[in-house]
Amino acid sequence: MSMGLVSLVGAGPGDPELWTLKAASRVRNADIVLYDALVDARALREITDAPCFCVGKRARRPSVRQDTIHRLMIGAARRGKRVVRLKGGDPFVFGRGGEEALALRMAGVPFEVVPGVSSAVAAPGWAGIPVTHRGVASAVLTVSGHELAAFERAIGGVTPNGLTLVVLMGLSARAAVAATLRARGWRLDTPAAIVCAATTRDAFTWAGTIGQLEGAEVPAGPPGVIVIGEVVRLREAIGSEGSRLQPEAEEIYERRG
Ligand SMILES: C[S@@+](CC[C@H](N)C(=O)[O-])C[C@H]1O[C@@H](n2cnc3c(N)ncnc32)[C@H](O)[C@@H]1O
Repeated sequence: MSMGLVSLVGAGPGDPELWTLKAASRVRNADIVLYDALVDARALREITDAPCFCVGKRARRPSVRQDTIHRLMIGAARRGKRVVRLKGGDPFVFGRGGEEALALRMAGVPFEVVPGVSSAVAAPGWAGIPVTHRGVASAVLTVSGHELAAFERAIGGVTPNGLTLVVLMGLSARAAVAATLRARGWRLDTPAAIVCAATTRDAFTWAGTIGQLEGAEVPAGPPGVIVIGEVVRLREAIGSEGSRLQPEAEEIYERRG
């Protein structure tokens, strides 16, 4: 039996229309799909008849262990299957895609990486916040808020208020994130935003300052990024929350056929 292939595919931030052409093609032609919890399962089932298994972390349910995911991918590929491992955003941005690539490499299983649109850039952008802007911010740091010690190390290396910060997996730690920044010399009146469930129907944006982050009320459940820096002010000037523009844009495109 000939060896199959594993495609580590990014599914973008939520809206299935943000899957790349290559991502959609890989899913359409897959023999088996292993997908993460943030992937739109309905869209998935619309474009493939292949068996699709959710192996992502779901609230209140035990998640599939990482080594089990490796075993599933490796086993199916060795049985000659085209395996799509579909992950939210980009597979190599806080998505354990690197670990999966290493496991496949060690097992001698051929694989490819199909990059995706990362929420680190797409969520702020969708809410009308450019992560860089000439004269305002010429650098952006994407950092995880999941482990505070790692967050502190990353922040320790940058000049306070010197760039845009995009914090993933940091919503529940927003008070600690704010306290860390304050302790490192970031101004409390630095603009901050929280963008949840960007590009989906549940989208929500909060805007304030670092000093107000702790008290920010955001919906519990959907994923969100924290954006910190002067670029957040541009949201008002740009005035284009994706949620408001999207229906209009779609209407215009539909009208023109
Ligand atoms: C495990 S990380 C995966 C990141 C993903 N690989 C990427 O490139 O976007 C999950 C985190 O991504 C962020 N995230 C994913 N989808 C999002 C969305 N639609 N809106 C806002 N944040 C999102 C949240 O911070 C969430 O906790």
